[in-house]
This record gives sequence, structure tokens and C-alpha cells, in this order.
Amino acid sequence: MNMQWIDTLSLKGKRVLLRADFNVPLNKQGEVADDFRIVSTLPTIQYIIQQGGKAIIMSHLGDPEGKKTKMLSLAEVGETLAKLLSVPVSTTKDSVGKEVASLVENMKEGEVLLLENLRFHKEEEENNEGFARELAKLGDVYVSDAFGVMHRNHASVVSVPKLLPSAGGFLLQKEIAGLQKLLLDPERPMVAIVGGRKIESKLPLIDKIASLADEVLLGNLLANEIQEKGIVLQHKENIVLPPDGVPDDKKAFDIGPATRTLYQEKVREARTVFWSGPLGRYEEDEYAVGSKAIAEAIVEDTSYAVAGGGNLLDFLGQHGLRDKFDHISTGGSSMLAFLAGEQLPGLKALSYYSLEN
Ligand code: 3PG
Ligand code: MG
Repeated sequence: MNMQWIDTLSLKGKRVLLRADFNVPLNKQGEVADDFRIVSTLPTIQYIIQQGGKAIIMSHLGDPEGKKTKMLSLAEVGETLAKLLSVPVSTTKDSVGKEVASLVENMKEGEVLLLENLRFHKEEEENNEGFARELAKLGDVYVSDAFGVMHRNHASVVSVPKLLPSAGGFLLQKEIAGLQKLLLDPERPMVAIVGGRKIESKLPLIDKIASLADEVLLGNLLANEIQEKGIVLQHKENIVLPPDGVPDDKKAFDIGPATRTLYQEKVREARTVFWSGPLGRYEEDEYAVGSKAIAEAIVEDTSYAVAGGGNLLDFLGQHGLRDKFDHISTGGSSMLAFLAGEQLPGLKALSYYSLEN
């Protein structure tokens, strides 16, 4: 069975169980601080409504570890979603159980219901079969747009799609197409920039992207970790380490002036750029200089530019630079894993790998 996409399903009058990734940052008041993931899912939700389906949306938010946690309720997300859609969105007190079942039963065509945080049940992360069955009962078909969580073996991601006719939504389609372009015959030269920290989590990506890109430019923190831990990179010949840092090489809060010039030049020459992870402590203006300079060089003249990951997204959003990229991924770890060539459990459950990709 090949993977299906949402536009091949008949949705009229159907209960469409949509797995979204509404794991969005919240501010101190508990309001949605960045609606990018919600906005990115709108085309799929609008399509379900237009087709006369009943949209039953499920998501996680944060890591409540199986406990009902008021701060991590999806109620605020529901309000943001309603504003963005300009249609009412009902929310529930739980993601399964009698209340939910009766709300779903009373839904009319074109209505939207957002279930409470899936991770209030530890069974979600445990990929519990019974929990998956409870969720599956709520839908006639399953659609997934949750690219950000495709690397997780969780009930709503890997088990529910096996219990219902299932398909990918428009965001999932866009993510795969946007990232595949980097993997399949990119316009050259192709340069990848990898910043942030936690070298271990990025090693598979760095090794893979170094085999595809002409050059991989690393941030200071990753470069230091590589040295300190004696990590051996594959395709070392394609890796560029930063020659300096601010305030100094060892305690670098930003790339230094020489690195800035060097990386800007390389990015300007590139036709394809992939960027993951900011190059410094961008939250403090004085250390956002490097990331800003690189971002400006990228958007000046590149034929295809992709960026992704939570912190980088935050940085680009703060500086109004998101629209200038050809593709911005809603995924963090899932994007890194996808680009590293790993099989993502969520995509596997949708039969993605049985397609000839
Ligand atoms: C993310 O924000 O990366 C996804 O929503 C997955 O969240 P998780 O890391 O808590 O599983
Ligand atoms: Mg987490």
C-alpha cells in the first residue's frame, strides 16, 4: 500500500482525525508566543472544512509526562486557531473518554474540535495500543500534518494511522518536498550551516549533509565540542570550522569577525543553502550580530534557501526574515533526522517508505 495524500480521500461527512504538531512556544501569561506551526497547518484544516469533513484535531504541547498540567492545556492554542481560521473551535477537557465521544458525535460538517493535550496520558508516549484504539474510534479517516513529531514512536503518530485509512496533509507534503530538494540534485554550490549545540544529536546530520553539500560551516559551540570530545567527522574535507569567536574562541557567544566575513563569502557564492541552528546567543543583541550577517547574506541572492529548528525559527521571526527563505521547516529533531536519511517512524506508519522516493 502506497502513501496517500489528503486530496485523494473523500472527506464529506467524515470524521477526520488530524494529528497536528501544535507544540508551540508560550509566553509567561501562557499565550501562544509564536503561531508559525498553527499557521502552517491551516491549509489542511481549511481543506477539511471546505470538503464538508469534521475536523477533530489532536496534538501534544510540551512534556507534561502523563499528568494533567494546567499550563500545558491546548485551550489557548484553540483560541489562536479559531482567530486564524475565523471559525469557532471547540476544545475538550481530555483527548479520550465519554465527553470527547459525545462532542464528536454531535459535530456537524465543517466543524472543528481540538482535543486536549495528548501527553496528559502517559500512554501516548508509551505508544499504548488501547490508547491508540480509543483515539482511532474518534475518526473515520486519519490525516497527519505533524512533521515535527514524525521521529517519535508515539501512539497518535505511529499506531492510530494503522487503525484507520490514513493520509498525509498539505503541510507534511510541503515539508517533504521542501527538504527533498536539498537531497536530490541541489543547485550548486550547496552550503550547509549548522549552529546551536549538542554535537551528538547533530552528528548524523552533519555527516550526511557533508556528503551532499560542497561545504558545511559549523558554529563555534559545535566546533569546540568536536575538539574537546575528539569526535571524528566523516567527509572532513567539506567541513569548515570558525576561525574566531566573540568574546573569544573558547567561550564563544557569537562567531567572530573573521568567521563572519568567511561565512558570508561562502554563503554568497552558494546557490543552495541549508541552515539549522543559530550561530550565537541570539537572544542578546550583541551576540546576534553573526547570525544576522549570515541571514542577510543568504537572503540576498540564493536560488534555494531552507532553514529550520526552533531557535533559528525564533531568531528569524524576531528579525522578520522568515518569508525570505524558500522553505522554513516546522520540524526540529525530525527535520535533522529526515535530512540525515533516517526512517522516521511517523512517516513509516503512513507508508511513506514504500513509495519510490
Ligand atoms: C518539537 O517541538 O520538536 C516536536 O513537537 C516534538 O516535541 P518533543 O521533542 O517534546 O517530542
Ligand atoms: Mg521535548
